[in-house]
Amino acid sequence: MVFFCKYMHKLVTLAGVSLLLPLTSQAVDLMPVIPKAKGQQCVESTDKMRRNHMEYILHQRNDTLRKGIRTPKYSLKKCIECHNAPDKDNRVAHISSKQDHFCSSCHTYVAVKIDCFECHADKPKKTQYHPTSREGH
Ligand code: HEC
Ligand code: HEC
Ligand code: HEC
Repeated sequence: MVFFCKYMHKLVTLAGVSLLLPLTSQAVDLMPVIPKAKGQQCVESTDKMRRNHMEYILHQRNDTLRKGIRTPKYSLKKCIECHNAPDKDNRVAHISSKQDHFCSSCHTYVAVKIDCFECHADKPKKTQYHPTSREGH
């Protein structure tokens, strides 16, 4: 909950700023554009996922590594399969792409840094990175 409050604070601040801007389209441009997922629905409601996704995957990591429990429902691999699905040329975004990678699009906006993809794949198997997303790597 504390996490979400911080996030809400940023959104509320933005909403306040937008009232001062003469052009609402400028304010809209400040909001993150979150790449659309593959599939009909998430593993929980979108609202719940926005607020609690970190708890689902962090807890599972602890359970998986310490107790050997596996809950395929909150698999990080599955998140990536839906949320960084390949385009028609079988290309996907690199985690360093602040706009194109699902996780980064939002985290850049709220200034969150995660280390998950130092070990975990940021793309589904057998896909290539989009060339423009590889800059600096
Ligand atoms: C809709 C926006 C949004 C998207 C999309 C998103 N996140 Fe997050 N994430 C957040 C917010 C907000 C926080 C907590 C921010 C805070 O507490 O300051 C967070 C925090 C986290 C944390 C905890 C970080 C920490 O150090 O406490 C993890 C882990 C995480 N996200 C993983 C992911 C992964 C993996 C993806 C992609 C599959 C993803 N998130 C996509 C908004 C998002
Ligand atoms: C130092 C390497 C490392 C880092 C960093 C790391 N993990 Fe993992 N993670 C593993 C290993 C090893 C496993 C067990 C093997 C497997 O199932 O892939 C695992 C398993 C998992 C699983 C269960 C398997 C799956 O695909 O669902 C989840 C969920 C998960 N990690 C989430 C996270 C999240 C979220 C972060 C970032 C906050 C993170 N991990 C950071 C090494 C790491
Ligand atoms: C079967 C496909 C699928 C899987 C698996 C999946 N998602 Fe989703 N997710 C969706 C869809 C569909 C939405 C609704 C928004 C959209 O259409 O892009 C969504 C929404 C979200 C949102 C809110 C995004 C927003 O627009 O505010 C977050 C955060 C999220 N998912 C994180 C995750 C995480 C973390 C995992 C892995 C534990 C995961 N999802 C697994 C399909 C999936």
